[in-house]
Amino acid sequence: MWLEGYSIPQNVEANDYTQEFFAKNEQLSKEHTYDPLLVNDPEDNDLMLDHCTNPWLRVDDIEMDHAGILAEAMHLLDTACFTYHRPQSAGWMSLCIHGISSVHTNCADDYGLPDDYEETDSHWTDIAKFCPKTVDFMENHLRYEDYTRVRFMILLPGGWIGPHSDKDRQGFGATNIAVNNPDGCALVMENWGTMPFEPGAIMKINTHYNHAVWNRSSTPRIHMIVDGGMGDYFKDKCVESYKKRGGMLDI
Ligand SMILES: [Fe+2]
Repeated sequence: MWLEGYSIPQNVEANDYTQEFFAKNEQLSKEHTYDPLLVNDPEDNDLMLDHCTNPWLRVDDIEMDHAGILAEAMHLLDTACFTYHRPQSAGWMSLCIHGISSVHTNCADDYGLPDDYEETDSHWTDIAKFCPKTVDFMENHLRYEDYTRVRFMILLPGGWIGPHSDKDRQGFGATNIAVNNPDGCALVMENWGTMPFEPGAIMKINTHYNHAVWNRSSTPRIHMIVDGGMGDYFKDKCVESYKKRGGMLDI
């Protein structure tokens, strides 16, 4: 059974800050920020990706066998391969299929390693051979130029990640991919509302905005976070998706 060997180490109940954050922001529904400068010159990939003030961007037209990838991730959860990830959360676990190692789920600096260590010493980890469909998706469908950290991220039932920002400046951060997204689990962004995740959704997230996650379902929520050099193929997919909506949010 998937939960064997794991337990939520803190209170299952989300802390007050997280509950208040959800009460205030979960039901908001804004459509866009429409920045004409960015829309007028969307060919400049990096301008849009690095400066966009939208809270998220759905990246379209990338095929994903999310059911096959979910089966691989669930098997890795069943066999207790995950590592607890971070404080200010409960039931949040991670596993690198590409990176410094399968259990180095944070940035290099957190382990006393040089800043560029991830760029120079990342590789497919020993876990990769247990998830061939996931590796195939990375290599042949998502098609980053190169990868640094590629992680399964699991939020156990009842688990939560408290409100936080990951970036000082506006712009999109790492790519977040929903392998599943059980009803009752939400990623909520301050002043924007709930992200429209569904299985197979590939999203760029502006992690400058405060955001929090709470899994109020009875199913583990499994996403992937992808870091590395996006390259022109994936960047073009982002820009095409942005242009198609004229900068409007997918909600
Ligand atoms: Fe975050």
